[in-house]
Amino acid sequence: MRTQVAIIGGGPSGLLLSQLLMRAGISTVVLERQTRDYVLGRIRAGVLERGAVEMLHRAGCGARLAREGIAHEGCNLSTVNGMFRVDFQARVGEAVTVYGQTEVTQDLYAAQDAAGAVIFHEALNVALHDLEGSAPWVSYEKDGQSHRIDCDYIAGCDGFHGISRQSIPAEKRTEYERVYPFGWLGVLSRTAPAAEELIYANHPRGFALASMRNPTLSRYYIQVPLSDNVEGWSDHAFWDELKRRLPADVAESMETGPAIEKSIAPLRSFVAEPLRWGRLFLVGDAAHIVPPTGAKGLNLAASDVHYLFEALQGAILERDDAALDQYAPRALKRIWGAMRFSWWMTSILHRFPGQSDFDQKIQESELLQLETLESAQVTMARNYTGLPY
Ligand code: FAD
Ligand code: PHB
Repeated sequence: MRTQVAIIGGGPSGLLLSQLLMRAGISTVVLERQTRDYVLGRIRAGVLERGAVEMLHRAGCGARLAREGIAHEGCNLSTVNGMFRVDFQARVGEAVTVYGQTEVTQDLYAAQDAAGAVIFHEALNVALHDLEGSAPWVSYEKDGQSHRIDCDYIAGCDGFHGISRQSIPAEKRTEYERVYPFGWLGVLSRTAPAAEELIYANHPRGFALASMRNPTLSRYYIQVPLSDNVEGWSDHAFWDELKRRLPADVAESMETGPAIEKSIAPLRSFVAEPLRWGRLFLVGDAAHIVPPTGAKGLNLAASDVHYLFEALQGAILERDDAALDQYAPRALKRIWGAMRFSWWMTSILHRFPGQSDFDQKIQESELLQLETLESAQVTMARNYTGLPY
């Protein structure tokens, strides 16, 4: 089989890139290790920046998002001293859109189906070959048979645990990493959201977040030690702990119900360089991970796709190979911007093991500045709603 761009990974990055390329008349093949149902069932991101929303419109799959996405013009931060709101609209004239990653992938799969995309699920043992030459190829196995795809370029969209990043020789890779000493226990429930906008809570018992997917579906998170496992957290224990960390009036009036999904995610900041190795380009979580505190992961994946789409269009449609050199520097600038913001949000909102009284005072002072200084709110709102592409 032959294609112009082989895409490894059928998550949001891979599907969005495939959809944009196909609309530009460039052929793609997507290889996904899991089943489609598995990809569609993964409950992850919930907040989209305007840039990501615009990308989905450009990809021709923004109709349902325009109908069902909920604009949020601010968010709340809760501290021991009370709750305050950062008004994104007033500070930077922007908003974010609440629309689940599951909905995004569903819309992308529907658009890809309509466009006649070639997507192979349950593609196993994917391996990348001759990346440094002019004729790279991909091998994989499906239903016990070996297959080969010849291509011009390969997009590594296979997430943090994928093989694309590992295909760059270890001695040529630099990895920048911070692993945080806690995780997030997340619960999805068919209940009305606790508040109209998100609440990020700094609490002596640990961080908590009240989020949502739509008016009848809520998403909540609490900081937990990495040694905890999901089985150890009954629904009752979860709600009890969440309520203790949210403002009392919110906790009193909030609706609770059975968890329809419950999972623990570790928190990590990570960037791998280079993003390009010959004809391979790393995109999204394959290249970088941010802690979810800033709601940046999926949004960064969308901006990577934007830069790579422009680079590939230049190289393939205009025969301008120099366009490919632009991908990494453009993407990295934005990636490090989101790294800094996610790290900062994580640092000011969580309880770190061994946190000293000094650390505690600094955290309180950061939150007080955010509450009282307009310039601090402008910076926060600018970053939360998305740095420019
Ligand atoms: P992935 O979604 O990981 O997709 C990669 C795909 O590649 C997967 O389908 C995988 O099965 C496939 N794959 C892996 N290995 C192989 C292989 N060897 N061969 C073939 N296929 C392979 N981001 C936000 O922007 N906002 C949020 O509010 C937010 N909240 C989050 C909350 C949680 C709890 C978590 C865990 C993440 C959150 N994120 C958020 C991050 C966001 O979900 C990710 O950044 C996003 O999924 C990245 O998309 P991706 O396509 O690059 O990678
Ligand atoms: C979510 O709704 O899943 C969500 C929202 C905001 C975050 C992280 C996750 O910062």
